[in-house]
Amino acid sequence: MSLKSIAVLTSGGDSQGMNAAVRSVVRSALFHGLEVYAVQRGYYGLIHDDIRQMDLRSVGDIIQRGGTILQTARCKEFMTPEGQQLAADHLRKRGIDGLVVIGGDGSYQGANKLSKLGIKTMGLPGTIDNDIPYTDFTIGFDTAVSIVGDAINKLRDTMSSHERASVVEVMGRHCGDIALYAGLASGAETILVPEVPYDLDEIASRMKENFDAGKRHSIILVAEGVGSGHEIANEITKRNGIEPRVTVLGHVQRGGAPTHNDRNLASQLGDFAVRKLIEGESGKACGIVKGELVTTDIDKVVNSKKPFNMEMYNLALRLSQ
Ligand code: ADP
Ligand code: F6P
Repeated sequence: MSLKSIAVLTSGGDSQGMNAAVRSVVRSALFHGLEVYAVQRGYYGLIHDDIRQMDLRSVGDIIQRGGTILQTARCKEFMTPEGQQLAADHLRKRGIDGLVVIGGDGSYQGANKLSKLGIKTMGLPGTIDNDIPYTDFTIGFDTAVSIVGDAINKLRDTMSSHERASVVEVMGRHCGDIALYAGLASGAETILVPEVPYDLDEIASRMKENFDAGKRHSIILVAEGVGSGHEIANEITKRNGIEPRVTVLGHVQRGGAPTHNDRNLASQLGDFAVRKLIEGESGKACGIVKGELVTTDIDKVVNSKKPFNMEMYNLALRLSQ
């Protein structure tokens, strides 16, 4: 049976570019003659039947905005089989046969469950963490990296004036990509990520030697998956007597206008998801691999771990001497 109507939702932690993805899904679906609905507050809205029909104008003036006009939620009720069944029933009752879920790893788990209940689902990778396998980049990651890079530039100014060290804690959950990409781009002296073991004795003595040799600042980027930036700073002080200032960037990394890369990625992936649903694919996650748009079984995606880019990590180490 051919697809007649689809819905779109955003779920989990928001990310910059989610609005651009919603706009792309809605306008692409309308272009292909589908009815399109929006679910408010992710899976919470599905369970509570908070669903409205969209038209071309519903997604006007949002491509450049951070956050998500559909809002998002972390919904416990949806974790139960009863919650998932209720969500599927609400879609069926309205004659909606396809669903595009824009979110991270957890949201994909939810999409996988709905797919197994017979809803034709497509996942779009919306998270700043870049922790989704089978896509090189997630929507929001590029913007988060830019925000961290800008913050480091600012910190470097004041650290150099005072000849200080700076520990910067960044988000990413269990993934070190935000720290890695922002660290390479901004020349951080040390990048600590959960994927690679580190030696605090070596880091502390290198920092001391560098300051003694005339270096005027030292930036240590800590991915939250490693632990707290404050703890790392304390451990460094214990070893070399230097007292790094600590900055926890927090949710600032999730806000603000998406970069043009994120808007373009979101626009491409949103349209791709709709076209793949129309072609009859479902239970898939959309991604970009080496510049090509691809779909992968969502079951496979949620049961895999994204490989860490060791080559890039080693490059960052070599260049930060
Ligand atoms: P993200 O999508 O950013 O990783 P979460 O991990 O909070 O964010 O997941 C978002 C939502 O997806 C959760 O609040 C829950 O409703 C749903 N979800 C997460 N994991 C599962 C699961 N194993 N089964 C069903 N639903 C899930
Ligand atoms: O997944 C996005 C993310 O910002 C992670 O980087 C971070 O660990 C988490 O969400 C923070 O969650 P919350 O918004 O619930 O504080």
